[in-house]
Amino acid sequence: MAKLIPVAASRKLKPGQPVCLAYRGVPYCVIKVKNDKLRAFVTVCSHKDLAMYPPDVKKQTLVCPFHEAAFDMATGKLAKKSRKKAARLPKVKVKIMDGIVHLAARKKHQKLLPKSERKWVAQEDKKQQKKRKRG
Ligand code: FES
Repeated sequence: MAKLIPVAASRKLKPGQPVCLAYRGVPYCVIKVKNDKLRAFVTVCSHKDLAMYPPDVKKQTLVCPFHEAAFDMATGKLAKKSRKKAARLPKVKVKIMDGIVHLAARKKHQKLLPKSERKWVAQEDKKQQKKRKRG
């Protein structure tokens, strides 16, 4: 069963600007694309099974910071201009409740990346949260 994780107020999401977060060491990004549609992915790059937390953003693609595999933000598919081969990003369901975007985190998402990567993502997430609190 999915756990619904609040991400942000729908009106605060800007087209083409992903909001990335981690839940139980799994990196996710939620993106508003054309026609205000929402997309969400587990941002793990299958080229070397590394977490993109966060991915770089270039011209409507999410780019892996390690070797620059590029994924279309609207579909999660590998972009034509990608420098490396990798499988498409796993899709995640999103739901808007009371104007808040939620993503549906599933236990199976944890199996998409090695335990060492989940640990690293959790540590990075803590660092980012501290930075945000300090402002
Ligand atoms: S791990 Fe992402 S391109 Fe190599």
